[in-house]
Amino acid sequence: MRKFNLFVTVLFFTGLSSLQAQEKIPFVEDLLQKMTVEEKIGQLNLLTPGGGVATGAVVSENVETKIKAGQVGGLFGVAGPEKIKMAQDFAINDTRLKIPLVFGSDVIHGYKTTFPIPLGLAASWDMALIEKTARIAATEATADGINWNFSPMVDIARDPRWGRIAEGAGEDPYLGSAIAKAMVKGYQGNNLTDATTMLATVKHLALYGASEGGRDYNSVDMSRVKMFNEYLPPYKAAIDAGVSSVMTSFNDVDGIPASGNKWLLTDLLREQWGFNGFVVSDYTSVNEMIAHGLGDLQAVSALALNAGLDMDMVGEGFLTTLKKSLEEGKVSEEQITQACRRILEAKHKLGLFEDPYRYIDAKRPAKDILSDENRKVAREAATRSFVLIKNHKNVLPLKRNAKIALVGPLANNKNNMLGTWAPTGDPQLSVPILEGLQKVAPAARITYAKGANISDDPELAKKVNVFGPRIDIDERSPEKLLQEALDLANKSEVVVAVVGEATEMSGEAASRTELSIPESQKKMIRALVATGKPVVLVLMSGRPLTIAEELALPVSILQVWHPGVEAGNAVADVVFGDYNPAGKLTASWPVSVGQIPIYHSMKNTGRPATSEAFQKFQSNYLDAPNAPLLPFGYGLSYTKFEYSEPSISKKEVAQGESVDITVTIKNTGNYDGEEVVQLYLRDVVRSITPPMRELKGFKKVFLKKGETKSVSITLSPDDLKFYNSQLEFVSEPGAFEVYIGTDSNATQKVTFSLP
Ligand code: NOJ
Repeated sequence: MRKFNLFVTVLFFTGLSSLQAQEKIPFVEDLLQKMTVEEKIGQLNLLTPGGGVATGAVVSENVETKIKAGQVGGLFGVAGPEKIKMAQDFAINDTRLKIPLVFGSDVIHGYKTTFPIPLGLAASWDMALIEKTARIAATEATADGINWNFSPMVDIARDPRWGRIAEGAGEDPYLGSAIAKAMVKGYQGNNLTDATTMLATVKHLALYGASEGGRDYNSVDMSRVKMFNEYLPPYKAAIDAGVSSVMTSFNDVDGIPASGNKWLLTDLLREQWGFNGFVVSDYTSVNEMIAHGLGDLQAVSALALNAGLDMDMVGEGFLTTLKKSLEEGKVSEEQITQACRRILEAKHKLGLFEDPYRYIDAKRPAKDILSDENRKVAREAATRSFVLIKNHKNVLPLKRNAKIALVGPLANNKNNMLGTWAPTGDPQLSVPILEGLQKVAPAARITYAKGANISDDPELAKKVNVFGPRIDIDERSPEKLLQEALDLANKSEVVVAVVGEATEMSGEAASRTELSIPESQKKMIRALVATGKPVVLVLMSGRPLTIAEELALPVSILQVWHPGVEAGNAVADVVFGDYNPAGKLTASWPVSVGQIPIYHSMKNTGRPATSEAFQKFQSNYLDAPNAPLLPFGYGLSYTKFEYSEPSISKKEVAQGESVDITVTIKNTGNYDGEEVVQLYLRDVVRSITPPMRELKGFKKVFLKKGETKSVSITLSPDDLKFYNSQLEFVSEPGAFEVYIGTDSNATQKVTFSLP
């Protein structure tokens, strides 16, 4: 028997609240002294004048008048030195205290240089690259006058029905935490007064990715141990990395919507985690508490302020009701002052009081935005995000002089390359796949036909085309489109079919209950395979899809997500072998929707299935296996990597000690390539049910063909800890198993114990 709780890190510190703990900034304190309560409330108001992408039913009205009346703390959805200067002038020239505005934006995966969707970037497992994309995004956005980013989105998502899985890092808290940190560093740099850095916002606190049924904005209900162990770590990692602001989520947490949840916004965020930046609501999420059933606008606005929310996005509940609530004793002036203080402190951090025009420089956009160097990084990032799912008969890479039939609705398409949440990017600047292949391999003989519509369903097209024509249903009949593709296929050596989801089939308010490739394209794929020609599927999507049928066909599959502005060039680099793909999935791909939620760190049951064959009275399905179609961490290469037996630096690890696991890898194939070595840990016995395995380390290494490298991964004392039923962060004595290998099914094992 092991003894529990030998080594406890006390999670709850009861000492000073952040208000007391943080040193006050004299400038801000002086300013607060001069402010009326109306002016303070004005700072808590965040508006969007429209023109950008509105992500709710409401767009702010009379913005200019409100700024001049001192009723606005910040704006979003406004960009460009000229427009930003105009708005800043209203605040500086027309208000009594000349408090500058802060300018926000959703710069989710690049500003104008659009990188792959975040789920794709995560598949690179390359933290330096991810940080670099964030750095570039910040440089470009700040060149356009924006100094506050609504990113990173770090919601753990284990339900690919939820369209916003595209916006985050996938299912795993360890990887998600590493990415959160890299992005915060990339956006904020080391010095926020530098005009190329911006405030980062971690969002959406909390648990938004666990919306029931994968339906966006839906309720969430979760135990505290699950929250602390599996869903909260990436938010905390961003806070530990110094993120400046936090955005609340739309959902409820323990029955109280996040925007009005005092436990979440004060007890956890400020008192336990020590966060001292400011908290902004999501778009009208304060007002939405009325629909949640928590009272009228005055009541929910007071609830939000009292819970610890500082800034109200778009809804104007703070602006229109807080004064009345103050008079009626429902909120205190101290709370209003405190929220205002946090917003002023953020502006101070940016250096805006010194120079409100610090981020406004008409010369910067031309120099800093969409430069050749930035596009080069976008191309590189896209190639690193691709996951080779299957390489049938090693058809890939293609010969540079191959006779290729390039087909599919996404093969010569600019409207769907950027992916969801790229409101600042211009789809027309993206490189279509056809163009990229032609440029990279001029000797290739490429013919093109559309072959199919993304979907033949006009109703779906209407829903998906809200930001532009993403699904365009051809005037030609589906039969005619298909025949054109088949004619080309029959005359070619190889078929490359670019298929999958339109951009807005994932993302916000884009949940699906069915995750297959749309039927119009499935028909085309079947017919192409029937020609007997080798077929390569270049698959685009914002989420894991159910592709059991396609995987069983004699085809090769390269998953390219929505690759961003350099789509075509990047796909060509990989298809022709200039870059050997090394991406690994960061969310499990289910066999069928019925398996969801599915993720690698599931727990054992008391009646575990011991084989994939059906066993009565064991935990399994009548009609599907338990295992996903493609496991977390999965991805092939054009080359092969052989792993040696792993070794471990000690078999007994004392409390507080680290341990190293080492493995030797050899590149035994015919190409140079990269491999993501992954380490999974199983805590065999503990006081709360352990996952079967959890990612606890990884390293990406490059090996020339024939090369051998030794790779060591260190498990730190914290890697052995978890939150127990008292929510104490502890490690408990006993046996541990370590699995190391190429994906989450790794079988090579070493063991150690914690005495
Ligand atoms: C709603 C989205 O949930 C959030 O992620 C985004 O930052 C805001 N709209 C502002 O656009």
